Amino acid sequence: MERLICLVIGYLCGLLQTGYLVGKMNHIDIRQKGSGNAGSTNALRVLGWKAGLMTFAGDVLKCVIAILLVRYLYRGSECLPLLAMYAGVGATLGHNFPFYLKFKGGKGIAVLAGLVISTKVWMALIPLAAFLIAVLFTRYISLGSLLASSMFFLEVVVCGQLGCFDMEAMYLYELYILVFALMVLAWYRHKDNIKRLLAGTENKFGSKKKE
Ligand code: G3P
Repeated sequence: MERLICLVIGYLCGLLQTGYLVGKMNHIDIRQKGSGNAGSTNALRVLGWKAGLMTFAGDVLKCVIAILLVRYLYRGSECLPLLAMYAGVGATLGHNFPFYLKFKGGKGIAVLAGLVISTKVWMALIPLAAFLIAVLFTRYISLGSLLASSMFFLEVVVCGQLGCFDMEAMYLYELYILVFALMVLAWYRHKDNIKRLLAGTENKFGSKKKE
């Protein structure tokens, strides 16, 4: 039951569609422009830096808030990192599949960033480095996002095995499954980006191309 409550808290927080709202403030439906994604990359592409940053900040923040809420509600729980992860999964689902926008939201990478820093701030270093290296060398934000989500999964498993989460093994394995599911979801949400990457037609960061 606790898990379901955390998932629902996360989902409700994730419903706040920053990209969609920022688009509406600029009189457009962001999902009908650029890549069609209601996330910060597309807000940046279509509306510029300010909109991109606002969208990114809002999407990170809603996940952080969901996790803080769960941490507060379940303080003292023996599986708090796991419950926090359920809130992060819920926030990702709310962001990616908002019921009131016909389940058409974003791809969950900024939300994942919020989840990473809420899990342990220093855990952001490796995914961030992977993201920056990929984007600096290729200018493909999607490639950076895919690498960062995969790095986070690997990092959680390594840190879990090293005892960073202070939870019993059965909770740890559940945690790994959740983060693995998040990684698979991130790859699934990027399936069109992956096709374009393989075809060499993916949008590059800073390019003028809008579709
Ligand atoms: O976080 C989303 C990013 O990886 C790709 O966005 O708009 O190029 O599909 P977009």
